[in-house]
Order: sequence, then C-alpha cells, then structure tokens
Amino acid sequence: MGKFVGRNLELALMDKTLIPPDKATRSRRVVLHGLGGIGKTQIAVEYANSRRKNFSAVFWISAKSEEVLKHMLAAFAERIPLQDVLDSSGQIIKSNDGLERAYTAVKEWLDLPDNHRWLIVFDNVDKHQPSGSGRDDTKIFDIRHHIPGQGNVIITTRSADLRRLGEDIEIENMSEEESLQILCNASGVHADEEGESHHLPALQHIHFVHI
Ligand SMILES: Nc1ncnc2c1ncn2[C@@H]1O[C@H](COP(=O)(O)OP(=O)(O)OP(=O)(O)O)[C@@H](O)[C@H]1O
Ligand SMILES: [Mg+2]
Repeated sequence: MGKFVGRNLELALMDKTLIPPDKATRSRRVVLHGLGGIGKTQIAVEYANSRRKNFSAVFWISAKSEEVLKHMLAAFAERIPLQDVLDSSGQIIKSNDGLERAYTAVKEWLDLPDNHRWLIVFDNVDKHQPSGSGRDDTKIFDIRHHIPGQGNVIITTRSADLRRLGEDIEIENMSEEESLQILCNASGVHADEEGESHHLPALQHIHFVHI
C-alpha cells in the first residue's frame, strides 16, 4: 500500500465531530460518502491509525455484507474479552448460536454506561437499504440495526442515502498535486514538496488519478 497523501481538510472535519472539546456527547458519527475509488476507505484507515490514542479502542468492520459485518463484530468478543461467550481457550464457542451470542454480547458491551470512548469504522457500507423497502437483492441490509446507540462511528459508503446517519463529509477528487504525489509515490519517482515532478512532465496533464 502506498503512502497516504493529503486529505487534511477531511481529517480535520472528522476531528471536529469525533474529538470535540466538549466530551459530553455520547454518540458521534461521521459519514464519508463519495464515488467508488475516490479514497473513502483510505481516509478512514489514516484516521483510525493517526487518532488511535484518542479512543479507548478502535474496531474495524468490513460492512461489505451483513454476514461479514456480524462475524467481525462478534470476533471482538475475543479481544474485549467477554467470558461467557468464549471457550476455555478464549475463542468464540463453536455452537450453532455461538456467533449470534458473541455478536449480541459485543453489542451489549458497546452499550454499557460510561463505555463510549471507542471508535468503530463500518467500511464500505454499500449494500444498505432501510428495512421493508422491498428490494429483492438478498445482500441488501439495514446498517442501522448494527450501529450502537453511543460511541464514535465512522461509516464509509458510496451511497448519499446514508448522509443523515451522521455528520456528512462528501469525499471529492483530490487536487492535481495530491494525485500527482500518489502517482509519484507509486512509481518511485521523486516529487518535490509542491508535488511537482521534474522527471515526468507528461504527468502534469493527468488529472484526478486514482490507483
Ligand atoms: N489519500 C490517499 N493517499 C494515497 N493513496 C490513496 C489515497 N486515497 C486513495 N488512494 C488510492 O486509491 C485507492 C482507492 O481508495 P479507497 O479504497 O480508499 O477508495 P474508496 O472510496 O473506499 O472506494 P470504494 O467505494 O470502492 O470502497 C487506494 O487503494 C489507494 O491506492
Ligand atoms: Mg472503500
């Protein structure tokens, strides 16, 4: 993976919601939305890594499908750890309802009073649809069923429909300089501080590169 470039404005906007000076608010959510490949997941990764110390725990959930989401959320039972859903070796009990129990236990843990300083990223929430909306794509699910009622949440999505779930940050194309910087990093060509490459003048004509 190449080095993260730019997006300072977006990261600062996320700070405003997720690390406010007033710590009283118990539920804070940011929705990063924009086109496929524009850089939403990268911003969330950079945020989670660089702000790790501001949170009691950071959980990363791929929300590509409801099944993967539930597995990943349930797996936190091993990290927290929640004894009554784990076997003697500290793994989720392998029974028919083991996964469901672990999922429920983690959700309950996330809702405990005074436990709201964690950060969860729900990444790639592109199969969301409100329940009962009648679409017959079986992969569609309602993300709202899985979002805890407190704590800090980042959602990345291609869907503008999810904007209302939190502080909406629209992710747009990077500047020409930033795109050029990514390209130079990927190709190993040196660029100076303004992101200008003296070796690849042809690159000046490439706008909005996404790798
Ligand atoms: N700020 C950045 N710095 C460096 N590389 C980046 C940056 N943003 C995006 N990229 C490059 O672009 C690729 C696509 O970005 P990313 O996966 O974040 O897009 P996305 O918006 O989450 O797309 P999707 O909607 O398909 O999930 C990354 O794998 C990375 O190579
Ligand atoms: Mg993504």
